[in-house]
Amino acid sequence: MERVVAGNWKMHHGPSATRAFFRDFQPDLGAAPPTLIVFPPALSLAAAVESRGGRPEVALGVQNLHWEPKGAFTGEISASMALEAGARYALVGHSERRHIFGETDEHVARKVRSAALEGLTPVICVGETLDERRAGRVDEVVLRQLHSALEGLSETPGKRFLVAYEPVWAIGTGETATPEDASAAHGTLRRALHAALGAEWAQRVPLLYGGSVKPENARGLLEADDVDGVLVGGASLDPASFAAIAEAAL
Ligand code: 13P
Repeated sequence: MERVVAGNWKMHHGPSATRAFFRDFQPDLGAAPPTLIVFPPALSLAAAVESRGGRPEVALGVQNLHWEPKGAFTGEISASMALEAGARYALVGHSERRHIFGETDEHVARKVRSAALEGLTPVICVGETLDERRAGRVDEVVLRQLHSALEGLSETPGKRFLVAYEPVWAIGTGETATPEDASAAHGTLRRALHAALGAEWAQRVPLLYGGSVKPENARGLLEADDVDGVLVGGASLDPASFAAIAEAAL
């Protein structure tokens, strides 16, 4: 199974900080590196394209997009623009988009559809809040989010995508899911992919864990069953700590 280490910079690192990051990002990954993806702010994408050169190869993505290809949508960017600017991946349905900006499952499905139709690989983000976890609703919530997002892929069968499980209570809080918590949710997601798309495909979709991943806990999480990669927020901003996490995936 493909291993993936992705960094979501959120609203951090303008163009000059982006150039400095790639100058200093020098992980020691040998001949079989994990897939590395960085999601800079859209305004820093061009700086990332210019400065990411050399080894290892780092793919780029956008943190959000609009589902229409163009139009009167002030402040938005489309999948085709992101692709033209050098993005190959799109985060869709990040919990900050859902909870701060009111994105619904239906919006997420439309964004997944647009990303897939235009040729970006969607990274579908799912995850429960603390209240939902306390109420024993983890599976119900992540399955609802997953199934709704998969509807966005109905016109592009066979299109590669990734799923990121990010429990909301673990994001930016320093509180990490245990490897067992991550495995349990990932197992639920894997079984749902199996039921929806078949065994072979379910084994091909990388399942990423996100939520306070750091160099100190990355290896334990990456060794957990059904955890194929990590989606890192805060610790991906620093080139040395993101490099250490990438090395933990070897
Ligand atoms: P932190 O690693 O800062 O908790 O953020 C996780 C996240 O939201 C990645 O998308």
